[in-house]
Amino acid sequence: MNDNKPSKNYNSYKSQLELALLDIEKAKGIPNEYYVEEVCFKVEQEKIFNTGWFAIGFANDLGQPGSVIPVTYFNNPMFIIRSKEDNKVRVFQNVCRHRGMKLIDEPTVLKGAIRCRYHSWCYQQTGENCATPHLGGPGINFHKSIDKKELGLFEVRTHIWRGVVFVNPNGNAPKFEDVHSSIIKRWEIFDQELHTDLLGSSFQLELNSNWKLAVENYLEAYHLPWVHPGLNSYSKLEDHENIVNYGNYSGQISYKYNPIFSTGKKFKDFKDLGSEWDSKGEYIVLFPNLIMGVQRDHLFNNIIEPVSSEKIIERVQIYYSDIKILDQEYQSTRLENAQLWKTVFEEDIFVVEGMQKGRHAKYFDGGRFSPIMDVPTHVFHDWYARKILQY
Ligand code: FES
Ligand SMILES: [Fe+2]
Repeated sequence: MNDNKPSKNYNSYKSQLELALLDIEKAKGIPNEYYVEEVCFKVEQEKIFNTGWFAIGFANDLGQPGSVIPVTYFNNPMFIIRSKEDNKVRVFQNVCRHRGMKLIDEPTVLKGAIRCRYHSWCYQQTGENCATPHLGGPGINFHKSIDKKELGLFEVRTHIWRGVVFVNPNGNAPKFEDVHSSIIKRWEIFDQELHTDLLGSSFQLELNSNWKLAVENYLEAYHLPWVHPGLNSYSKLEDHENIVNYGNYSGQISYKYNPIFSTGKKFKDFKDLGSEWDSKGEYIVLFPNLIMGVQRDHLFNNIIEPVSSEKIIERVQIYYSDIKILDQEYQSTRLENAQLWKTVFEEDIFVVEGMQKGRHAKYFDGGRFSPIMDVPTHVFHDWYARKILQY
């Protein structure tokens, strides 16, 4: 793609990025330019997001058949739809096959076909072209040179896991289950029914930051004593352990997960977890853009949407093990739980935005890693550098 062609300066950024691949004791972090320069953002678009799998939305947001939600990542317009025809969730390019008009502007629930507002070509919710009015002249809806079967919507390669809709826009990545086999196996015990209520168990935050800094901050527990004093009062730094899986994912374990709510209520645990989960929580980032947490009584996902090189939206959804937890009886406990997580994510905003400001420093060499505390961050930088440099 021509607009992704690196500028002349781009090659010097690249050589600094190689330093992220050194042993952690010698490695430097990803250089500043990859957090602030538009050219680097475009390179990421191609080498990480377009060619790999990334999260774009929650299947639960499309509760009713006919629900459609437009999403745009790196200027690529798509929409997610749950079709009335077969109840399946699909993702399509948000563009009409006639003259390229964008089809869906707002989330809505469609009663029937997807109709382009320009010349009224229509598409079934499963993507097939079903109408081309006046195509062959007034009153003639066909033309011998045009085969409608070839003019369905462009479908984007999609995979749904843990209620999250992932896409691979160029269609060539290895299968999702192969790319992420290691985390799927690690957490297979949580392959159970998930229940969420969209009002009480989801929230959204906007940050002036590059997407990578939100990832990096989530990966480590090092900042806990200073940034999350509340959390640190019952789940201390020393109760954490790094999760390290070079080439795949990283994060942290807390061995002191013990939820106590002011309502005195408890959520029902997921089934058959085993005693190791009695007081354990695991928190990882599925690279590039999905923050995840699992505990015995609830899970959460946080999709980081890179709006620009210096702006992101985080969308969080919390899931429970039993539909009864969505009853009125648990409402205030659910709200309290959502507020607890919201507070934690909000406490992180000033450091994530502060690092973004720091990335504009004229002299900064990518930083140094604590060889003990920053290993999960180094896993991410190593993964990132290999993708960008195609090693
Ligand atoms: S652009 Fe959609 S019908 Fe013409
Ligand atoms: Fe934090």
